[in-house]
Amino acid sequence: MNKLSRFMFALLATSAFAIGITIFLTHAWTLLARGQSTNRPWMDKTLSPDRRADLVLKEMTLNEKMEFVHGNGMPGWGKPRPNAYLGNGGAGFVLGVPRLGIPMIQMSDAAYGVRSSAENGRYSTALPSNIASAASWDVEAACAYGTLIGRELRAQGYNMTLGGGVNLTREPRNGRTFEYMGEDPILAGTLVGNRMKCEQSQHVLGDIKHYALNDQESGRNEVNVIVSKRAMRESDLLAFQIGITIGEPGAVMCSYNAVNGDFACENKYLLTEVLKKDWNFKGFVVSDWGGTHSVEKASAAGLDNEEPEDLFFGEKLKQGVQSGKVPMAELDDHVRRVLRSEFASGIVDDPVKKSVVDVEGGLETSRHLAEQSTVLLKNDQGILPLDRAKLRSIAVIGPNANSSMISGGGSAQVDPPGRSAPQWKEHVWFPTSPLKAIAAKVPGVTVEFDSGADKASAAALAKKSDVAIVFGYQWTSEDFDLPSLSLPDNQDTLIEQVAAANPRTIVVLETGSAATMPWLNQVGGVLEAWYAGSKGADAVANILFGDVNPSAKLPMTFPRNEADLPHPQLLTPPPRTPGTRNGEAKPTFEVHYDEGLKVGYKWYDAENKTVLFPFGYGLSYTTFSYSGLRVVAGSETTVSFTVKNTGSRAGAEIAQVYAALPASAGEPPKRLVGWDKVHLSAGESKEVSMQVKPLYLSVYDETSESWKLMPGSYTFSVGGSSQNLQLVQKIALK
Ligand code: BGC
Repeated sequence: MNKLSRFMFALLATSAFAIGITIFLTHAWTLLARGQSTNRPWMDKTLSPDRRADLVLKEMTLNEKMEFVHGNGMPGWGKPRPNAYLGNGGAGFVLGVPRLGIPMIQMSDAAYGVRSSAENGRYSTALPSNIASAASWDVEAACAYGTLIGRELRAQGYNMTLGGGVNLTREPRNGRTFEYMGEDPILAGTLVGNRMKCEQSQHVLGDIKHYALNDQESGRNEVNVIVSKRAMRESDLLAFQIGITIGEPGAVMCSYNAVNGDFACENKYLLTEVLKKDWNFKGFVVSDWGGTHSVEKASAAGLDNEEPEDLFFGEKLKQGVQSGKVPMAELDDHVRRVLRSEFASGIVDDPVKKSVVDVEGGLETSRHLAEQSTVLLKNDQGILPLDRAKLRSIAVIGPNANSSMISGGGSAQVDPPGRSAPQWKEHVWFPTSPLKAIAAKVPGVTVEFDSGADKASAAALAKKSDVAIVFGYQWTSEDFDLPSLSLPDNQDTLIEQVAAANPRTIVVLETGSAATMPWLNQVGGVLEAWYAGSKGADAVANILFGDVNPSAKLPMTFPRNEADLPHPQLLTPPPRTPGTRNGEAKPTFEVHYDEGLKVGYKWYDAENKTVLFPFGYGLSYTTFSYSGLRVVAGSETTVSFTVKNTGSRAGAEIAQVYAALPASAGEPPKRLVGWDKVHLSAGESKEVSMQVKPLYLSVYDETSESWKLMPGSYTFSVGGSSQNLQLVQKIALK
């Protein structure tokens, strides 16, 4: 063999060897993988999520378990951690166990749409704010809301939502009122539960927050809320209870504040006794960001996962377990709960695949939901809908009404397309132009704009126009409360001057909560559009011109002024105590919710206070009548009645049922116990029938720590708002 032949032979032999090795390794890997998958009984979808979680847990090392009880940082929060590159740009993430096929949990805020899209170069639809969606009183709309957000989360690479805010509106100046579902626990809980059910059906892990009684932002990290067990169980906690029962979210976020002495994230009563034992919640408790304050106390109280870092549930918790101060069974319970939610939500079986967000589909849904959420509050002499045939000129007045509509801020913020990430507490206007949407409805009509910066010029434009439409706004955000319910920047004076120049003035409000309206008697019409989302302007224009008949009703009372609130003076903290957040501090001030059970309309009813617009109120372009109430006792109480559309066009009526409990119950005058949204063509009647659950008629008895239906006489009343109840029937319940 010459040199070349020897070389060729060696080359061939080496190649053959390499190929052989490769074939062997591939084969071995296949065998291993096959072996592993048959060794992974938890991948059997026919097993229950509990069983699957147990099976995984048995295989896990202590270090692997520790990964499940804390986050790995958030962009912009503290120092980036070494594994920050594994995050998806959201508020937090939890490492999985690749060797066991358990994926990472990638979380994103998603109150009214997916957050942080600008920073991540993505796109998200902004839906109408949560308070707006509550104004639809519509479980199907709540479902569409959740479905859209679930879909967009997954498209952007997230498998867990941090949406689902359901704190009750005890304090309408709360800067996060727009993120919640109003003041009634049954309405709020039902809607958030349906939203969450549908969001999770997209295979994202759901979350309901902020548990509990985080009902104001002022001093949220330092406040100790003092409230009786009965009052909390029948108000704020009932909203969570109903939401959790319907939606079965994978997680509950404990809040920043303390309740009756203990921070919510280390509050045994809230987390273990009520949530996990009484309500049998099977998912995990995640702390609000920086809301963890201890290791042993928090772990024993029932906190399962610290976010966004591991100040307490990292090395310190591990040492606690190793030293025996924290039982291994307690750590196992935390981990099992996280695993269970991963299986139950489908994120293990159906891993996230990124895709392009359906922009057109999202805009369509957003507009449709906004139309169902916009409340017609005043309509004098049928000024609305606007009659295209009779109009020659329209004045559109108000800050940015030529270009955009305001959105709610904080961690709920959705970023508008075409611009960079906003700063914290920046007023963010969405590019949905009222001026253009109105002009598009009336080709040939003169539609002129004035920002209102110069009130005299705005009034002059109103005077020469057939009708003036003023867009007023109130921006609100997480992390602060409103000083008052008045529109800021002298907008009240602007509206007064415009209305003085032309009484055919219509005010469209873009607010996140109730607003006071000193000009109400001077204007012809008022629409509450809330924060109306990506397609708000089109929705408002459709209602103004009658292409859509409004059907929404207020999910919260609009009081006449702050003096009528349970706490006329907002309760604020003493000068900030450094270190409460992320520290083992004690709360520094108390808020006494001594209005107790009297939240929202229950307060105004009980105190005989007149309101500006009551809970459940909202007008339509048609009219409805009610008749034939029948209430029948049974295991559930059946309430039936007939609603008739007595006007000349199709519309939907949100028919409401309230119950007054026997006097011995010691309750406020009445509570909402049911409703139905009835779609009727002109002249049509429908019989409505609904079942009222015993829970909705019960009171919480502190002595026996249980719900009780008090025997006695119950008065059921039915109608179109909490203060317009035409039908009444009494029945005895045993
Ligand atoms: C908010 C939560 C939010 C979290 C993560 C907190 O400041 O209270 O609602 O989910 O931040 O962004």
